[in-house]
Amino acid sequence: MSKILIVDDEESVRSVLGEMLELNNYQCTLAASTAEAHSLLDKDKFELVISDINMPDQSGLDFIKEVMAKDPDVAVIMVTGMDDPMIADVALKLGAYDYVTKPVKLNNLLISVSNALKRRRLEIDNRLYQKQLEAMVSKQTAALQENEARLKAILEAAEHVSFIMVDQEAENRGRIVEFSRGAECLLGYNRRDVLGRPVSCLHLPDEITNLANNAHISDNNIGKALSKRLNLITRSGNTVPVLSTVYPILAPDGSLSAVLFVFLDISESINAKAKTQQTVEQLENALKGSIKAMAMAVEMRDPYTAGHQQRVADLASTIAKEMNLSEKRSEGVMMGGIIHDLGKIAIPAEILSKPGIITETEFELITAHPRVGYNILKHIDFPWPIAQIVLQHHERLNGSGYPQGLYGDQIILEARIIGVADVVEAMASHRPYRPARGIDAALKEIDKNKGILYDPDVVKACINIFDKYNYTFKKVF
Ligand SMILES: [Fe+2]
Repeated sequence: MSKILIVDDEESVRSVLGEMLELNNYQCTLAASTAEAHSLLDKDKFELVISDINMPDQSGLDFIKEVMAKDPDVAVIMVTGMDDPMIADVALKLGAYDYVTKPVKLNNLLISVSNALKRRRLEIDNRLYQKQLEAMVSKQTAALQENEARLKAILEAAEHVSFIMVDQEAENRGRIVEFSRGAECLLGYNRRDVLGRPVSCLHLPDEITNLANNAHISDNNIGKALSKRLNLITRSGNTVPVLSTVYPILAPDGSLSAVLFVFLDISESINAKAKTQQTVEQLENALKGSIKAMAMAVEMRDPYTAGHQQRVADLASTIAKEMNLSEKRSEGVMMGGIIHDLGKIAIPAEILSKPGIITETEFELITAHPRVGYNILKHIDFPWPIAQIVLQHHERLNGSGYPQGLYGDQIILEARIIGVADVVEAMASHRPYRPARGIDAALKEIDKNKGILYDPDVVKACINIFDKYNYTFKKVF
């Protein structure tokens, strides 16, 4: 029920108006003066104020101003005894919705009240809609400004990236339409000098020029970025390795509109990689050199077995390759072979080179050499299992070897390979205590004992490389 405040100094008028409106389902409050009306308006919320224009304590027009200032949502209808269009006009200009003249006719008043309330509702809804619209616009404007700021940052950052855009439209096909500051730095050309010119003026590799001329952008590639490592030649003739990415740009109809080339200078990473590789190679060479130096130290004390370790290493690594071991593992076999008798450094030279039969004590000293070698090497962090190879190279499949008496797979493959190569080389070579027995005898020996003393796969590979590939012993270094 709409709440209406009726303000009139004439008691009869305000009572009649109140009764008439109450009968038509309005909730009315009566005020005899503008002062009383102000007091009521301060305490309660009214949707409509019907006020006499001639009030003793305040002009009706001033009253309207104050009421509307206090509550912009309130509707006002003026009631006047005079049919004075001038005053009515002023009241309407001040914001009154309507005015009625005394004596008030019920129908006129009801129509006016109903219209005023409807208009008030519409105006309130309109203001609300306006506010919502403003909030929405303000939100979207803020989002737009944020996007603009982000786009600006991206474009500014993109300037530092090397990119070239080449037109693909019929009239300007192959001409440069964008050339970033980054591209200026990378290639040494001035942007103003190259814009609008054919891309061929940059002397880019054919792969790029062909792409720019649409020759190599097939249907499969359209819409996809294509990346490739290339070498660019700068204006001053320097070569710069780059990662080149091509982005075809399509027109709304799906045709190729332009091609964007983005170049990433990868010279620093290539140089760093090469430097690292060089350092790794230097370290590896130093490591291999150290191993060879240790091997030479042993062999210098034992001239009869000089070269034995190198020959074992070469045969063992050839067997490893024949068995399809990885390059790194074969290299480990080679390094293990070169140094496998390191422990002999602890055996007195006269025992090593003693012709004839050796005593039991001497035999014990000799058979300790794998353990001695292992103890020397065990704390060195090689990229291969060198210490284990050295420790196990005299182990045999049936557990008859030394120093640990390991069986089968307990012996690492590298040591099983070196074990076979060691026997073959030793039998084929001259020793202080016996003459050379020859390759055939050596191969016969390992063949006879394959699966017993020696790994059958290793034996098979070893016989293969002698029989099929005519392997001969040679010095490794
Ligand atoms: Fe040995």
